Amino acid sequence: MKLSLDTGNLDEVREANRWGVLRGVTTNPTHIAKEEKDFLPLVKEICSIVDGDVSIETLSQDADVLVRQGHDIAQIADNAVVKIAMHPEGLAATRKLSDEGIKVNVTLCFNPAQALLAAEAGAYIVSPFLGRLDDIATDSMKVLSDICEIYALQGYDTQVLAASLRSPLHVVEAARLGADIATMPFKVFQSLVKHPLTDAGFKRFSDDWEEAKAQLGELPPSMQEA
Ligand code: G3P
Repeated sequence: MKLSLDTGNLDEVREANRWGVLRGVTTNPTHIAKEEKDFLPLVKEICSIVDGDVSIETLSQDADVLVRQGHDIAQIADNAVVKIAMHPEGLAATRKLSDEGIKVNVTLCFNPAQALLAAEAGAYIVSPFLGRLDDIATDSMKVLSDICEIYALQGYDTQVLAASLRSPLHVVEAARLGADIATMPFKVFQSLVKHPLTDAGFKRFSDDWEEAKAQLGELPPSMQEA
């Protein structure tokens, strides 16, 4: 499962990318608005940092406008993916853009019926929002599992991107259920790496090493630094 960052923040993208495990970024109008930066330079910079898909959202409920926005977004960079919300006009635009070879991420998907439509419209990615389903007491993992099962049975190529993830458990469950991509806020990304036993174990190794260092003979220079 590819790990993707859900953000418009350049520092977060750079830091996650430095870890060597970042495979994409999803932006949305809320994330972009929060950065208070010029749109085009910001999204171009994100696309240049990340070696993977960067989803950039359209904003219209008119298929023709969406197609024009899709053309503009596709021009931004080779790895730019056009994000289009799930509604009839969005599906029509997805069909048109997909037929032209432009990659579309159908977003704001909340059930398997919508995911089925996205795949039939030729979407490159479908984004079920898990956290927002949990917020309204709906079993998001059942929805994700149904979508993954249907896609596998029907042989769809559309990738399932688990979105609106709020915790490391969401990420792990998404992987277990077969999502192709998981996108998450930087806070969740950071929480994936943390474990108190890892911290405690590292501290003990460091303390033991420090105590024994003098008796260990000649050390490679880099290990003297430790
Ligand atoms: O990628 C979808 C995401 O931006 C929505 O997350 O936490 O606002 O539901 P959230």
